[in-house]
Amino acid sequence: MAVTASKCLSLADFATLFGCTQQDLPETTRALIEAGDWRYEMMTGAARDRVVVDLLKRIDRREFSIVKFGDRSRWLRGWDESLNDYVAAGGDVTALVPRYIRPGVPMRLFGDFVMPASADFELRWYQVFRDWLLRSYFGNVSHIFEFGSGSGFNVAELARLYPKAEIIGLDWVEPSVEIVERLRADHGLRTKGRLFDFFEPDRQLDMPPNSAVLTIGALEQTGERNQAFLDFLIAKRPRLCVHVEPIVDWYDPESLVDHLAIRIHEARNFWHGWPRRLQALAAEGRVEIVKMKRAFVGSLLLEGYSQLIWRPIGSEVT
Ligand SMILES: C[S@@+](CC[C@H](N)C(=O)[O-])C[C@H]1O[C@@H](n2cnc3c(N)ncnc32)[C@H](O)[C@@H]1O
Repeated sequence: MAVTASKCLSLADFATLFGCTQQDLPETTRALIEAGDWRYEMMTGAARDRVVVDLLKRIDRREFSIVKFGDRSRWLRGWDESLNDYVAAGGDVTALVPRYIRPGVPMRLFGDFVMPASADFELRWYQVFRDWLLRSYFGNVSHIFEFGSGSGFNVAELARLYPKAEIIGLDWVEPSVEIVERLRADHGLRTKGRLFDFFEPDRQLDMPPNSAVLTIGALEQTGERNQAFLDFLIAKRPRLCVHVEPIVDWYDPESLVDHLAIRIHEARNFWHGWPRRLQALAAEGRVEIVKMKRAFVGSLLLEGYSQLIWRPIGSEVT
């Protein structure tokens, strides 16, 4: 179906969405932007109503994945499939793209619902965002720890961008760990896989001083049980912690579109609390907040790309 598209994301829009200036956009990020189709149409009238009513029905029926504490089964199944796909594709990392980035459906943009012209708009947008994010924040560290690394596709990209750094992919299910281990064996990347549970962080994990931490859509899975991981990070003193996660506190409760995201976030049992806790820790001089940026872009259900970037005080800063 052809989608009419009267709007188009510009370079300035990308910079606004990332929370940087246009000059800060690396050449590679600009090239990815130039290669993409960023046309979209605002959803209005009956079409927008249908999206809203459909989401309300899905909330009533709890028709989306919901965090159940301690239940790894969904992730075991999902990442086992990714592992099998990756092996069947002869070690092709494109087989690792997670399936929850859905093509051809409405998205959230600038606080409203839009219909992109291109079916793979969200995946392409994510590739641009990730290129900018990984190049902007991880350049000068020796070790990068991605917690909740899932299919390993971010680990593979980090290892490609930073061949001298050691990239550690950690997750609480074995297939994720195995994918990261295979990336090393198959492609000679400096990757290491390790089991890790946010609910019971392994204090034995060695985190050298010049390390950075990344989570993408992973802490969202911890509901209210994430204090142990925050304490763990503060104790380990990495140089930088970068979280790309849905942040429920940053929606506007007076907006219908945001109200739906808040209700979906709550219904899915997703995490909350860190922005306020980090602000309290910053007031006590225990952490430094580097950036808090609402995404203003996301899937139909919620904005999963908000940035929460901070460091424990006492970590080495250059
Ligand atoms: C939505 S996926 C995101 C995966 C990956 N970061 C990405 O961007 O595609 C959430 C990940 O968190 C992991 N996870 C969920 N609960 C966890 C826990 N308690 N400890 C460690 N990892 C967990 C899941 O196994 C899964 O890999």
